[in-house]
Amino acid sequence: MKLGIIGLGYWGPNIVRNAIMNPEITRVVCCDRDPERLGNIQRTFSTVETCADADVLLQDSEIDAVAIITPVFAHYDLAKKALLAGKHILVEKPFMSTVQQAEEILELAEKHQRIVMVDHTFIFTPAVRKIKELYQSGVLGDLYYFDSVRVNLGLFQRDVNVIWDLAPHDFSIMHHIIGKRPVSVRAMGSDHVGKGMEDVAYVHVEFENNLIAHFHVNWLSPVKVRRMLIAGTKKMVLYDDMENVEKVRVFDKGIDVNTREAEYQMLVNYRSGEMYSPVLDNTEALKALLQEFIDAIQENRQPLTSGQDGLEVVRILEATQVSIKNDSKKINL
Ligand SMILES: NC(=O)c1ccc[n+]([C@@H]2O[C@H](COP(=O)([O-])OP(=O)(O)OC[C@H]3O[C@@H](n4cnc5c(N)ncnc54)[C@H](O)[C@@H]3O)[C@@H](O)[C@H]2O)c1
Repeated sequence: MKLGIIGLGYWGPNIVRNAIMNPEITRVVCCDRDPERLGNIQRTFSTVETCADADVLLQDSEIDAVAIITPVFAHYDLAKKALLAGKHILVEKPFMSTVQQAEEILELAEKHQRIVMVDHTFIFTPAVRKIKELYQSGVLGDLYYFDSVRVNLGLFQRDVNVIWDLAPHDFSIMHHIIGKRPVSVRAMGSDHVGKGMEDVAYVHVEFENNLIAHFHVNWLSPVKVRRMLIAGTKKMVLYDDMENVEKVRVFDKGIDVNTREAEYQMLVNYRSGEMYSPVLDNTEALKALLQEFIDAIQENRQPLTSGQDGLEVVRILEATQVSIKNDSKKINL
């Protein structure tokens, strides 16, 4: 496969490195408007070709697919042009700036029979794959809640607030594990720089059957925290992405509700069993993600993190924005 990669800023070079290592990718053309970034990539990876103009890259009929690794405001235009030029596309998170843009791109892809994949990187991590497996196989039972904290100092973005920057990771993990659309979203946040971009935010999401999810994202934290609690009726999981050894811990803890007790007695019994940490392999997520993109194209099927999954995440993101602008109003999805 011959791959074009547009955007060589902070994240793009990671995609380039993995593309070069993939034996099925025989040609990599890297594109950025910034000549310094083009020069850097050429010096670091001598086998890549470079190009300063995305339109020129898209007119190269040899290129089968394009990875769009630019800031979100540029995703829609580049994705549209790439699809019209007959390319399959891999688009960075967040997929698009609005639900309408995402729907349009999916329609266009359908019309032109092209594959759309979104880089929801975490879905390809061994930790998230293990948690999904634990939930799907019934080990966790029914879920009570999903709770995530993703905080650090910066990096302040110019075009999006902290929710659009950090929460796509959490929303995509939640969407992947639970596999259902939430019924409502509420969000609150504040901007301490005065540019109209929230840098500290809290998002509350509700599903049917009393399942709730809560997200705290923050660019103003003195420490980096990446912690997720997923509690089920049978087992509870703590996923700490900052941990090197025991990233995922499964607790046999919970409650048993005894409805036969007399009213004046305690109805809740606590269960406090063992904890174990499953062994995880150490596959690099982006390596698995690129392979999935290639396989989906060759097999002409939807990839694991499809454009539709990207749209579902954008739907929640858009709702948080409406909620914040309306005094944390509950927005039904
Ligand atoms: N999956 C992840 O874990 C992860 C991590 C970081 C960033 N991202 C995503 O990656 C994307 C890029 O983020 P970044 O931090 O690398 O941004 P960045 O600003 O560091 O780099 C973007 C690059 O794109 C180039 N560019 C923009 N428009 C262009 C165009 N039309 N033609 C050619 N070049 C163009 C810019 O010159 C710049 O070099 C964002 O969507 C971001 O959300 C994903």
